[in-house]
Amino acid sequence: MRVLVIGSGAREHALVLALSRDPGVTAVLAAPGNAGIGRIAEQFPVDAASAEQVVALAKDQQVDLVVIGPEVPLVLGVADAVRDAGIACFGPSAAAARIEGSKAFAKDVMASAGVRTAHSEVVDSPADIDAALDRFGPTWVVKDDGLAAGKGVVVTADRDAARDHAAEIIENGHPVLLESFLDGPEVSLFCLVDGETVVPLLPAQDHKRVGDGDAGPNTGGMGAYTPLPWLPEGSVDRIVDEVVRPVAVEMVRRGCGFSGLLYAGLAMGAEGPAVVEFNCRFGDPETQAVLALLESPLGAALNAVATGALADLPPLQWRDGAAVTVVLAAEHYPASPRTGDVITGADDERVLHAGTKRRDDGALVSAGGRVLNVIGVGDDLGAARDSAYTTLAEIKLPGGHYRSDIGLAALEGRISL
Ligand code: GLY
Repeated sequence: MRVLVIGSGAREHALVLALSRDPGVTAVLAAPGNAGIGRIAEQFPVDAASAEQVVALAKDQQVDLVVIGPEVPLVLGVADAVRDAGIACFGPSAAAARIEGSKAFAKDVMASAGVRTAHSEVVDSPADIDAALDRFGPTWVVKDDGLAAGKGVVVTADRDAARDHAAEIIENGHPVLLESFLDGPEVSLFCLVDGETVVPLLPAQDHKRVGDGDAGPNTGGMGAYTPLPWLPEGSVDRIVDEVVRPVAVEMVRRGCGFSGLLYAGLAMGAEGPAVVEFNCRFGDPETQAVLALLESPLGAALNAVATGALADLPPLQWRDGAAVTVVLAAEHYPASPRTGDVITGADDERVLHAGTKRRDDGALVSAGGRVLNVIGVGDDLGAARDSAYTTLAEIKLPGGHYRSDIGLAALEGRISL
Protein backbone atom coordinates (compact mmCIF):
# COMPACT_ATOMS: atom_id res chain seq x y z
CA MET A 1 0.00 0.00 0.00
CA ARG A 2 1.33 3.44 -1.01
CA VAL A 3 0.37 6.10 1.54
CA LEU A 4 0.47 9.89 1.16
CA VAL A 5 0.52 11.95 4.38
CA ILE A 6 -0.65 15.55 4.11
CA GLY A 7 0.82 18.09 6.55
CA SER A 8 4.11 19.45 7.82
CA GLY A 9 4.23 19.17 11.60
CA ALA A 10 5.65 16.80 14.21
CA ARG A 11 2.28 15.03 14.22
CA GLU A 12 2.77 14.22 10.54
CA HIS A 13 6.37 13.19 11.22
CA ALA A 14 5.03 10.75 13.85
CA LEU A 15 2.43 9.43 11.38
CA VAL A 16 5.07 8.96 8.66
CA LEU A 17 7.38 7.18 11.12
CA ALA A 18 4.66 4.81 12.33
CA LEU A 19 3.46 4.13 8.76
CA SER A 20 7.01 3.35 7.64
CA ARG A 21 7.17 0.65 10.36
CA ASP A 22 4.07 -1.08 8.92
CA PRO A 23 5.16 -4.04 6.74
CA GLY A 24 1.98 -3.61 4.66
CA VAL A 25 3.05 -0.10 3.62
CA THR A 26 5.37 -0.21 0.60
CA ALA A 27 5.93 3.56 0.28
CA VAL A 28 5.26 6.63 2.42
CA LEU A 29 5.06 10.00 0.67
CA ALA A 30 4.56 13.37 2.35
CA ALA A 31 3.28 16.75 1.22
CA PRO A 32 4.60 19.24 1.95
CA GLY A 33 6.51 17.56 4.83
CA ASN A 34 9.43 19.12 6.67
CA ALA A 35 13.18 18.71 7.08
CA GLY A 36 12.79 15.69 9.40
CA ILE A 37 10.10 13.93 7.39
CA GLY A 38 12.34 14.32 4.34
CA ARG A 39 14.81 11.88 5.92
CA ILE A 40 12.30 9.01 5.75
CA ALA A 41 9.76 9.87 3.04
CA GLU A 42 9.74 11.35 -0.44
CA GLN A 43 8.31 14.88 -0.23
CA PHE A 44 6.27 16.98 -2.64
CA PRO A 45 5.76 20.76 -2.49
CA VAL A 46 1.98 20.83 -2.35
CA ASP A 47 -0.38 23.29 -0.67
CA ALA A 48 -2.10 21.04 1.88
CA ALA A 49 -5.25 23.17 1.73
CA SER A 50 -5.63 22.82 -2.05
CA ALA A 51 -7.95 19.92 -2.91
CA GLU A 52 -6.89 20.22 -6.54
CA GLN A 53 -3.18 19.89 -5.78
CA VAL A 54 -3.63 17.05 -3.27
CA VAL A 55 -5.83 15.03 -5.65
CA ALA A 56 -3.44 15.61 -8.57
CA LEU A 57 -0.48 14.41 -6.50
CA ALA A 58 -2.36 11.36 -5.17
CA LYS A 59 -3.31 10.36 -8.71
CA ASP A 60 0.11 11.08 -10.16
CA GLN A 61 1.83 9.01 -7.47
CA GLN A 62 -0.80 6.26 -7.64
CA VAL A 63 -1.30 6.21 -3.89
CA ASP A 64 -3.74 3.81 -2.28
CA LEU A 65 -4.46 5.89 0.82
CA VAL A 66 -4.26 9.60 1.66
CA VAL A 67 -3.92 10.51 5.35
CA ILE A 68 -4.76 14.14 6.14
CA GLY A 69 -3.08 15.43 9.29
CA PRO A 70 -4.22 19.04 9.95
CA GLU A 71 -7.72 20.42 10.45
CA VAL A 72 -7.62 23.18 7.82
CA PRO A 73 -7.69 20.90 4.73
CA LEU A 74 -10.36 18.76 6.39
CA VAL A 75 -12.61 21.74 7.10
CA LEU A 76 -12.06 22.87 3.49
CA GLY A 77 -13.20 19.52 2.09
CA VAL A 78 -9.91 18.05 0.86
CA ALA A 79 -10.93 14.57 2.10
CA ASP A 80 -14.18 14.81 0.12
CA ALA A 81 -12.25 15.66 -3.04
CA VAL A 82 -9.83 12.74 -2.56
CA ARG A 83 -12.72 10.30 -2.05
CA ASP A 84 -14.58 11.77 -5.04
CA ALA A 85 -11.47 10.97 -7.09
CA GLY A 86 -11.85 7.30 -6.08
CA ILE A 87 -8.92 7.22 -3.63
CA ALA A 88 -9.30 6.02 -0.03
CA CYS A 89 -8.81 8.84 2.46
CA PHE A 90 -8.30 8.92 6.22
CA GLY A 91 -10.05 12.08 7.38
CA PRO A 92 -13.61 13.31 7.78
CA SER A 93 -15.75 15.14 5.23
CA ALA A 94 -16.07 18.91 5.48
CA ALA A 95 -19.55 18.41 6.92
CA ALA A 96 -18.20 16.15 9.69
CA ALA A 97 -15.11 18.33 10.30
CA ARG A 98 -17.47 21.05 11.59
CA ILE A 99 -17.18 19.24 14.92
CA GLU A 100 -13.89 21.17 15.16
CA GLY A 101 -14.42 23.97 12.64
CA SER A 102 -17.48 25.38 14.36
CA LYS A 103 -17.60 25.21 18.13
CA ALA A 104 -21.29 26.21 17.97
CA PHE A 105 -22.01 23.17 15.73
CA ALA A 106 -20.13 20.93 18.19
CA LYS A 107 -22.22 22.27 21.09
CA ASP A 108 -25.41 21.58 19.15
CA VAL A 109 -24.36 17.99 18.40
CA MET A 110 -23.42 17.45 22.05
CA ALA A 111 -26.75 18.85 23.25
CA SER A 112 -28.65 16.47 20.94
CA ALA A 113 -26.44 13.54 22.00
CA GLY A 114 -26.83 14.29 25.72
CA VAL A 115 -23.08 14.71 26.20
CA ARG A 116 -21.84 16.68 29.21
CA THR A 117 -19.99 19.87 28.24
CA ALA A 118 -19.55 23.44 29.42
CA HIS A 119 -22.45 25.87 29.28
CA SER A 120 -21.71 28.36 26.50
CA GLU A 121 -22.87 31.52 24.76
CA VAL A 122 -21.88 32.98 21.41
CA VAL A 123 -21.19 36.74 21.38
CA ASP A 124 -20.68 38.60 18.12
CA SER A 125 -21.01 42.26 19.07
CA PRO A 126 -18.49 44.23 21.18
CA ALA A 127 -21.44 45.90 22.91
CA ASP A 128 -22.57 42.53 24.34
CA ILE A 129 -19.21 41.43 25.78
CA ASP A 130 -19.53 42.95 29.28
CA ALA A 131 -23.02 41.65 29.97
CA ALA A 132 -22.00 38.19 28.77
CA LEU A 133 -18.86 38.20 30.96
CA ASP A 134 -21.14 38.96 33.95
CA ARG A 135 -22.93 35.67 33.33
CA PHE A 136 -19.65 33.67 33.42
CA GLY A 137 -16.48 33.49 35.51
CA PRO A 138 -14.30 33.95 37.21
CA THR A 139 -12.65 31.88 35.71
CA TRP A 140 -13.47 33.01 32.14
CA VAL A 141 -12.98 30.74 29.12
CA VAL A 142 -12.93 32.80 25.92
CA LYS A 143 -12.68 30.99 22.58
CA ASP A 144 -12.58 31.89 18.92
CA ASP A 145 -15.55 30.12 17.25
CA GLY A 146 -13.39 28.96 14.40
CA LEU A 147 -10.04 27.34 13.78
CA ALA A 148 -7.31 28.83 15.94
CA ALA A 149 -4.88 25.92 16.46
CA GLY A 150 -5.36 25.96 20.24
CA LYS A 151 -4.00 29.50 20.48
CA GLY A 152 -7.48 31.05 20.24
CA VAL A 153 -8.38 30.00 23.77
CA VAL A 154 -7.79 32.21 26.81
CA VAL A 155 -8.57 30.81 30.25
CA THR A 156 -8.18 33.55 32.83
CA ALA A 157 -9.33 34.89 36.17
CA ASP A 158 -8.51 38.40 34.93
CA ARG A 159 -11.69 40.03 33.62
CA ASP A 160 -9.81 42.68 31.61
CA ALA A 161 -7.78 39.99 29.84
CA ALA A 162 -11.00 38.08 29.05
CA ARG A 163 -12.64 41.25 27.67
CA ASP A 164 -9.57 42.18 25.58
CA HIS A 165 -9.37 38.71 24.04
CA ALA A 166 -13.10 38.67 23.21
CA ALA A 167 -12.85 42.12 21.60
CA GLU A 168 -9.81 41.04 19.54
CA ILE A 169 -11.62 37.95 18.20
CA ILE A 170 -14.63 40.02 17.15
CA GLU A 171 -12.33 42.63 15.60
CA ASN A 172 -10.85 39.79 13.51
CA GLY A 173 -14.32 39.01 12.20
CA HIS A 174 -15.12 35.88 14.23
CA PRO A 175 -17.82 35.22 16.83
CA VAL A 176 -16.64 34.62 20.41
CA LEU A 177 -17.61 31.55 22.41
CA LEU A 178 -17.78 32.12 26.18
CA GLU A 179 -17.82 28.94 28.25
CA SER A 180 -18.21 28.02 31.88
CA PHE A 181 -14.95 26.71 33.33
CA LEU A 182 -14.73 22.91 33.61
CA ASP A 183 -12.81 21.68 36.60
CA GLY A 184 -10.71 18.51 36.74
CA PRO A 185 -7.59 17.13 35.06
CA GLU A 186 -7.66 17.08 31.28
CA VAL A 187 -7.58 13.97 29.11
CA SER A 188 -7.11 13.74 25.36
CA LEU A 189 -8.77 10.60 24.03
CA PHE A 190 -8.25 9.90 20.33
CA CYS A 191 -10.69 7.48 18.72
CA LEU A 192 -10.72 5.89 15.30
CA VAL A 193 -14.29 6.41 14.16
CA ASP A 194 -16.06 4.91 11.17
CA GLY A 195 -19.73 5.83 11.39
CA GLU A 196 -20.93 4.29 14.65
CA THR A 197 -17.82 2.12 15.17
CA VAL A 198 -15.41 3.60 17.73
CA VAL A 199 -11.92 2.28 18.62
CA PRO A 200 -10.10 4.31 21.30
CA LEU A 201 -6.32 4.78 21.34
CA LEU A 202 -4.38 5.21 24.59
CA PRO A 203 -5.45 8.24 26.68
CA ALA A 204 -2.93 11.07 26.85
CA GLN A 205 -2.50 14.44 28.53
CA ASP A 206 -1.31 17.60 26.79
CA HIS A 207 0.40 20.54 28.54
CA LYS A 208 -1.03 23.61 26.86
CA ARG A 209 0.55 26.49 28.80
CA VAL A 210 3.98 27.65 27.72
CA GLY A 211 5.74 27.48 31.09
CA ASP A 212 6.48 25.04 33.91
CA GLY A 213 3.69 24.70 36.43
CA ASP A 214 1.13 25.74 33.78
CA ALA A 215 2.36 29.33 33.76
CA GLY A 216 1.96 31.77 30.87
CA PRO A 217 -0.26 31.79 27.80
CA ASN A 218 -1.84 28.84 26.01
CA THR A 219 0.07 27.35 23.11
CA GLY A 220 -0.57 24.66 20.52
CA GLY A 221 0.82 22.21 23.14
CA MET A 222 4.22 21.99 24.82
CA GLY A 223 4.38 18.27 25.56
CA ALA A 224 2.34 15.20 26.39
CA TYR A 225 2.54 11.77 27.99
CA THR A 226 0.66 8.49 27.75
CA PRO A 227 -0.88 6.46 29.35
CA LEU A 228 -2.30 8.28 32.38
CA PRO A 229 -1.38 6.47 35.63
CA TRP A 230 -3.95 8.47 37.59
CA LEU A 231 -6.90 7.64 35.35
CA PRO A 232 -9.10 4.97 37.02
CA GLU A 233 -9.55 1.68 35.21
CA GLY A 234 -12.63 1.69 33.01
CA SER A 235 -12.41 5.43 32.29
CA VAL A 236 -11.65 4.99 28.59
CA ASP A 237 -14.71 2.74 28.16
CA ARG A 238 -16.77 5.27 30.09
CA ILE A 239 -15.61 8.13 27.83
CA VAL A 240 -16.41 6.08 24.73
CA ASP A 241 -19.86 5.11 26.08
CA GLU A 242 -20.85 8.52 27.47
CA VAL A 243 -19.14 10.87 25.03
CA VAL A 244 -17.60 9.58 21.81
CA ARG A 245 -20.11 6.96 20.67
CA PRO A 246 -23.18 9.16 21.34
CA VAL A 247 -21.57 11.93 19.28
CA ALA A 248 -20.64 9.50 16.47
CA VAL A 249 -24.21 8.16 16.43
CA GLU A 250 -25.69 11.67 16.42
CA MET A 251 -23.48 12.66 13.48
CA VAL A 252 -24.67 9.64 11.50
CA ARG A 253 -28.27 10.61 12.37
CA ARG A 254 -27.61 14.12 10.99
CA GLY A 255 -26.28 12.70 7.74
CA CYS A 256 -22.67 13.74 8.41
CA GLY A 257 -21.20 10.52 9.82
CA PHE A 258 -17.61 10.86 10.98
CA SER A 259 -14.79 8.87 9.35
CA GLY A 260 -11.30 9.47 10.68
CA LEU A 261 -9.84 10.44 14.03
CA LEU A 262 -12.21 12.02 16.52
CA TYR A 263 -10.30 13.74 19.31
CA ALA A 264 -12.20 14.27 22.54
CA GLY A 265 -10.59 16.86 24.84
CA LEU A 266 -12.12 16.25 28.25
CA ALA A 267 -12.09 17.49 31.81
CA MET A 268 -12.44 14.64 34.30
CA GLY A 269 -14.65 16.34 36.89
CA ALA A 270 -16.43 14.96 39.94
CA GLU A 271 -19.44 14.03 37.81
CA GLY A 272 -17.38 12.24 35.16
CA PRO A 273 -16.00 13.27 31.79
CA ALA A 274 -17.12 16.59 30.31
CA VAL A 275 -16.08 17.78 26.85
CA VAL A 276 -13.78 20.79 26.59
CA GLU A 277 -13.52 20.47 22.80
CA PHE A 278 -13.67 18.07 19.90
CA ASN A 279 -11.09 18.03 17.13
CA CYS A 280 -11.46 16.29 13.79
CA ARG A 281 -7.87 15.00 13.53
CA PHE A 282 -4.95 13.58 15.50
CA GLY A 283 -3.82 15.95 18.26
CA ASP A 284 -0.42 17.54 18.38
CA PRO A 285 1.71 16.81 20.43
CA GLU A 286 -0.18 13.85 22.00
CA THR A 287 0.05 11.80 18.76
CA GLN A 288 3.83 11.80 18.98
CA ALA A 289 3.63 9.99 22.36
CA VAL A 290 0.64 7.75 21.58
CA LEU A 291 2.03 6.38 18.32
CA ALA A 292 5.39 5.66 19.98
CA LEU A 293 3.62 2.89 21.94
CA LEU A 294 1.54 1.48 19.07
CA GLU A 295 2.62 -2.02 18.04
CA SER A 296 -0.18 -2.76 15.57
CA PRO A 297 0.39 -1.68 11.95
CA LEU A 298 -0.85 1.91 11.64
CA GLY A 299 -1.47 1.73 7.87
CA ALA A 300 -3.86 -1.19 8.29
CA ALA A 301 -5.79 0.69 11.01
CA LEU A 302 -6.11 3.93 9.04
CA ASN A 303 -7.02 2.05 5.88
CA ALA A 304 -9.73 0.11 7.77
CA VAL A 305 -11.32 3.43 8.77
CA ALA A 306 -10.97 4.87 5.27
CA THR A 307 -12.59 1.83 3.64
CA GLY A 308 -15.44 1.44 6.14
CA ALA A 309 -13.98 -1.75 7.67
CA LEU A 310 -13.03 -0.57 11.17
CA ALA A 311 -15.43 -3.06 12.78
CA ASP A 312 -13.30 -5.90 11.34
CA LEU A 313 -9.94 -4.54 12.58
CA PRO A 314 -8.23 -6.81 15.16
CA PRO A 315 -7.82 -5.17 18.61
CA LEU A 316 -4.96 -2.69 18.69
CA GLN A 317 -1.78 -3.85 20.45
CA TRP A 318 0.29 -1.49 22.59
CA ARG A 319 3.79 -1.70 24.02
CA ASP A 320 3.84 -1.79 27.84
CA GLY A 321 5.34 1.23 29.57
CA ALA A 322 5.00 4.93 28.90
CA ALA A 323 5.88 7.56 26.31
CA VAL A 324 6.61 11.26 26.74
CA THR A 325 7.03 13.95 24.13
CA VAL A 326 8.55 17.35 24.86
CA VAL A 327 8.32 20.32 22.49
CA LEU A 328 11.30 22.57 21.86
CA ALA A 329 9.91 26.01 20.97
CA ALA A 330 11.53 29.03 19.35
CA GLU A 331 12.45 32.17 21.28
CA HIS A 332 9.35 34.34 21.97
CA TYR A 333 6.91 31.51 21.17
CA PRO A 334 3.89 31.76 21.29
CA ALA A 335 3.70 35.57 20.93
CA SER A 336 6.13 36.19 18.05
CA PRO A 337 8.49 33.26 17.52
CA ARG A 338 11.88 34.03 16.00
CA THR A 339 12.82 31.84 13.04
CA GLY A 340 16.03 31.20 11.13
CA ASP A 341 18.13 29.99 14.09
CA VAL A 342 20.51 27.11 13.45
CA ILE A 343 19.61 23.82 15.18
CA THR A 344 22.24 21.21 15.99
CA GLY A 345 22.02 17.73 17.50
CA ALA A 346 18.57 16.98 16.05
CA ASP A 347 19.42 14.05 13.79
CA ASP A 348 18.28 11.36 16.22
CA GLU A 349 15.33 9.14 15.19
CA ARG A 350 13.62 10.13 18.44
CA VAL A 351 13.47 13.75 17.26
CA LEU A 352 10.33 14.68 15.35
CA HIS A 353 10.48 17.88 13.36
CA ALA A 354 7.77 20.55 13.20
CA GLY A 355 8.98 24.07 12.35
CA THR A 356 12.29 23.24 10.67
CA LYS A 357 13.79 23.63 7.22
CA ARG A 358 17.09 23.11 5.41
CA ARG A 359 18.93 26.26 4.41
CA ASP A 360 20.64 26.34 1.01
CA ASP A 361 23.95 25.61 2.73
CA GLY A 362 22.45 22.44 4.28
CA ALA A 363 22.11 23.82 7.82
CA LEU A 364 18.96 22.88 9.73
CA VAL A 365 17.17 26.07 10.86
CA SER A 366 14.01 26.90 12.79
CA ALA A 367 11.01 27.84 10.66
CA GLY A 368 8.12 27.97 13.13
CA GLY A 369 7.10 28.44 16.76
CA ARG A 370 7.10 24.80 17.80
CA VAL A 371 10.38 23.72 16.28
CA LEU A 372 10.64 20.03 17.11
CA ASN A 373 9.61 17.32 19.58
CA VAL A 374 11.68 14.67 21.28
CA ILE A 375 10.15 11.30 22.16
CA GLY A 376 11.05 9.26 25.22
CA VAL A 377 9.82 5.71 25.73
CA GLY A 378 10.44 3.67 28.86
CA ASP A 379 9.12 0.97 31.14
CA ASP A 380 7.39 3.63 33.21
CA LEU A 381 6.70 7.35 33.12
CA GLY A 382 9.91 8.23 34.96
CA ALA A 383 12.05 6.27 32.50
CA ALA A 384 10.21 7.80 29.52
CA ARG A 385 10.77 11.31 30.91
CA ASP A 386 14.46 10.61 31.53
CA SER A 387 14.87 9.36 27.98
CA ALA A 388 13.11 12.39 26.44
CA TYR A 389 15.05 14.96 28.46
CA THR A 390 18.37 13.18 27.81
CA THR A 391 17.75 13.45 24.05
CA LEU A 392 16.66 17.08 24.40
CA ALA A 393 19.86 18.01 26.24
CA GLU A 394 21.85 17.16 23.09
CA ILE A 395 19.90 19.63 20.92
CA LYS A 396 21.00 23.25 20.64
CA LEU A 397 18.72 26.06 19.43
CA PRO A 398 19.60 29.68 20.34
CA GLY A 399 16.74 31.11 22.41
CA GLY A 400 14.94 27.76 22.36
CA HIS A 401 12.82 26.85 25.38
CA TYR A 402 10.86 23.87 26.64
CA ARG A 403 8.92 22.80 29.70
CA SER A 404 10.87 20.69 32.16
CA ASP A 405 7.76 19.26 33.84
CA ILE A 406 6.01 17.22 31.15
CA GLY A 407 4.35 14.30 32.96
CA LEU A 408 5.94 15.33 36.27
CA ALA A 409 2.72 15.97 38.24
CA ALA A 410 1.47 12.51 37.22
CA LEU A 411 4.80 10.92 38.13
CA GLU A 412 4.74 12.55 41.56
CA GLY A 413 1.14 11.52 42.21
CA ARG A 414 -0.11 15.11 42.23
CA ILE A 415 -3.08 14.43 39.93
CA SER A 416 -6.16 12.88 41.43
CA LEU A 417 -9.84 12.75 40.63
N1 GLY B 1 -3.17 19.06 21.61
C1 GLY B 1 -3.99 20.12 21.16
C2 GLY B 1 -4.42 19.99 19.77
O1 GLY B 1 -3.98 19.14 19.03
O2 GLY B 1 -5.27 20.78 19.36
